Amino acid sequence: MTKQVAIFASGSGSNAENIIKHFENNSNVNIKLVLCNKKDAFVLERAKKFGIPSVVFSKKQMEEGEILALLKKEQIDFVVLAGFLLKVPDEMVAAYPNRIVNIHPALLPNYGGKGMYGMKVHEAVVAAGERESGITIHFVNEFFDSGETIFQARCEVLPTDSPEDVATKVHALEYAHFPQVIESVLEKL
Ligand code: GAR
Repeated sequence: MTKQVAIFASGSGSNAENIIKHFENNSNVNIKLVLCNKKDAFVLERAKKFGIPSVVFSKKQMEEGEILALLKKEQIDFVVLAGFLLKVPDEMVAAYPNRIVNIHPALLPNYGGKGMYGMKVHEAVVAAGERESGITIHFVNEFFDSGETIFQARCEVLPTDSPEDVATKVHALEYAHFPQVIESVLEKL
């Protein structure tokens, strides 16, 4: 049976687009919905370009269970967080055990937790003089950035690298690995 997937994103959505493209010709996986908590986010343009329906919602709507109800109504099997910055409510985690994955732009457990997202992560990595960073793809549990790790990949951080340089290296790892990791998790469902 085709797996129905929803992607949650809050910003540019370059990962969302990369995932959409990856599964375009895969009849086992249907990217059915893009959900976004920011009405001006560029991910909405990307979804439109690929003809994927999108839904904009508020933090309150998600906390009050409207989004979980929508996922159920749309018969969503699996959720991908691709640059999604709100905490997933406990009820949603409980309804989708090991069926929600997130990508974090650092090597968790380092540089994770509330407030650690996007460029803030890369700025912290550079400020600390780290010599490597990377990506972590993990299942989502009821705490920020602490569910079981599925996959990590690493990149070198040079002493001369700016946070933007690190972001470029980390994005490259995200584009190379996130769709494949999602595919292999979906194959085991
Ligand atoms: C990605 O680098 C992703 O790892 C990060 O936000 C970026 C979104 O980029 N996620 C987090 O920081 C979550 N804590 P995109 O919108 O272009 O895909």
